[in-house]
Amino acid sequence: MQRQIHFTLNGKSVGLSVDDERMLLWVLRSDLGLTGTKYGCGQSLCGACTVLLDDEAVRACATPMKEIQGKKVTTIEGLARDGRLHPLQEAFVRHNAFQCGYCTPGMILTAYALLLRNSNPSDEDIISHMEDNLCRCGSHQRIIRAIKDAAREMRGGLR
Ligand code: FES
Ligand code: FES
Repeated sequence: MQRQIHFTLNGKSVGLSVDDERMLLWVLRSDLGLTGTKYGCGQSLCGACTVLLDDEAVRACATPMKEIQGKKVTTIEGLARDGRLHPLQEAFVRHNAFQCGYCTPGMILTAYALLLRNSNPSDEDIISHMEDNLCRCGSHQRIIRAIKDAAREMRGGLR
C-alpha cells in the first residue's frame, strides 16, 4: 500500500510516499541514492545490506518500509562526523580489513551495533556477533583486529 513514511535517516528527518512493502534496501539505494548499503544476496543471508534501525543491526533487503515508520536509520554514510571517518572506518583502513570492500559497510555497521552494547568485546564476542556477515575475500582475521582496535580507541574517548 502506498503511504507516507516518516523516519530519521543519518540524523535528518525524511518523509517519503512509498509502497510500505518496499524493502528499505531499494529505498536507500534507488530512491535516495545511498549506495553504500550493498545488495548481496537479497535473501537476508549475507549481511552486505546491514544498516542500523534504532541502533539494532538489521538487513535492509528484508526490512519493509512499514517497519521504518518513526524510527532511526543509520547507514554507512552516516558514521563519519565533522569530515572525519568513524574510528571503526579508520581501523578497517589501518588493518586493510577488506579486499573488494563489498561486505565492508555491512561489517562496519554490524560491528558498530556490537560496540554500542559492549565496549570491550573479546575475540569470541566479536566472532559470534559477526559470524552471519559473509566475506568472500577472507578478510575475517583483519576484520576482528580492526574491531578490537576501534573498540580500544573508542574506550579511550578519542572519538
Ligand atoms: S543483501 Fe541483504 S543479507 Fe544479503
Ligand atoms: S572484502 Fe570482499 S567480500 Fe569482504
